[in-house]
Amino acid sequence: MTEKKQKSAWKKFLQSLTKAHDLGKEEEIMIADHEYDGIKELDNVLPPWWKYGFYITILVGVFYYIQVFTNQEQYSQEQEYLAEVEKGKAEVEAYKAANPELFKLDVTLLTDSENLAAGKKVFGTYCVACHMADGGGGIGPNLTDDKWILGGGMENVLNTLNNGGRPGKGMISWKTTLNNTEMQQVASYVISLNGTTPANPKAAEGDITWSKQ
Ligand code: HEC
Repeated sequence: MTEKKQKSAWKKFLQSLTKAHDLGKEEEIMIADHEYDGIKELDNVLPPWWKYGFYITILVGVFYYIQVFTNQEQYSQEQEYLAEVEKGKAEVEAYKAANPELFKLDVTLLTDSENLAAGKKVFGTYCVACHMADGGGGIGPNLTDDKWILGGGMENVLNTLNNGGRPGKGMISWKTTLNNTEMQQVASYVISLNGTTPANPKAAEGDITWSKQ
């Protein structure tokens, strides 16, 4: 009988996971013809724990492949995307419903100088390129006359600002650029231009007649 110490079960288990070669017996696994400048190579096996991990990833890969490619309804990227968009929209709607005061467009015409000045500023920033500073019109229609393509008055003008004009005409929706107060102010400013005399008025357009008088 040798004097070899009995290894504990735990040690045996660890040994089976690593298959580490006992120290002091390297010669057994030395690769004879691999020697460079006196440095030799041992032929260690891949540790079993690592190999099992690798096999598990292969199994997971097969499982995943089957799930994703045979169950497109549940796992396609498009479906996932659409589901996320639906969820996002529902959240936005819920937020709007919970905070109505933030999202209600106020159709009250503002006539005080402070709000009209604020409206003029918005107009000067976003609208003059197409409607001219005095509202006489350019790419966009004349905003000073009594003829309207989409309708005059606060409700119609706000509706135009909120939803944009007819498709392809150039009047976009401003609801992502302007907040509700700014829309109310600039709409009020547009109304205030009605009946004024611009320098180079564009010929009247539209079949709807509306004036603030
Ligand atoms: C890129 C050019 C462009 C810009 C910028 C623009 N508009 Fe317009 N706007 C138009 C055009 C074009 C129309 C006509 C839309 C149609 O025919 O449906 C229009 C229509 C309108 C109308 C309706 C007029 C009517 O006769 O019914 C209002 C009101 C108006 N714009 C206000 C504004 C305000 C306020 C801004 C700035 C926030 C603005 N627009 C910015 C081009 C523009």
